[in-house]
Amino acid sequence: MRQHVNPLSKNFNQIECIPSLVEMFGDSKLNLHLDIGCASGEFLFDLALVNTNWNYLGFEIRERLVKTAQSRVREREIKNLYFVFGNAINILNDVQSKCIFKNVKSISFNFPDPWFKKRHYKRRVVQPEFIKLLSNYLPKGSLIFIKTDVKDLFDYMDCTISNNFNFKKIDKKDIDIPKSFNPESFKTNREKYVILNQLDIFERIYIKT
Ligand SMILES: C[S@@+](CC[C@H](N)C(=O)[O-])C[C@H]1O[C@@H](n2cnc3c(N)ncnc32)[C@H](O)[C@@H]1O
Repeated sequence: MRQHVNPLSKNFNQIECIPSLVEMFGDSKLNLHLDIGCASGEFLFDLALVNTNWNYLGFEIRERLVKTAQSRVREREIKNLYFVFGNAINILNDVQSKCIFKNVKSISFNFPDPWFKKRHYKRRVVQPEFIKLLSNYLPKGSLIFIKTDVKDLFDYMDCTISNNFNFKKIDKKDIDIPKSFNPESFKTNREKYVILNQLDIFERIYIKT
């Protein structure tokens, strides 16, 4: 399967609209966590099955992965997990998506595609305009988690988010982990690989002020 998809390809200009919270989840009032670039969604399955008092919404640009994850959700009748296919930036930019923001408590960018060449930086999912959109719509107190094993990408994401005055860095020790989206500290697939191969992990958390 192709690992890297160019999110700027015109194939992704047309988006799948996000259904309403009531259509996606059994209990639409629960806290909502968004995972941007969730791949096959295994991390979200781990989370959703254990933390039934949270809703989880995964965005992924590789359609086949999303179709498989969606059918696993249906087969297992999981009511607090939903997957959307497409470029997360375009989807969340859509006017119809704005209604989900009121429930969002946190967002994760776990090991996003690095796009190493400078001319490809614009394909990275963390972009100033996207962060501006999040700063406009996220409720105060909501959190952004970033994690990567690529130092250059970490610096780029950190700079992009920190340049938005509505986000402040916070320390991991100031987070109430049992009440967070990931109280069991589940790992993503990439994170498991990185740990196994003893690579560095660079991570940071930001709060919307
Ligand atoms: C390196 S993988 C990491 C997957 C997973 N988060 C993990 O930690 O194991 C990055 C994922 O982000 C997806 N992706 C990249 N750009 C995206 C975008 N603009 N919108 C949605 N998904 C995107 C890729 O297709 C890929 O599955």
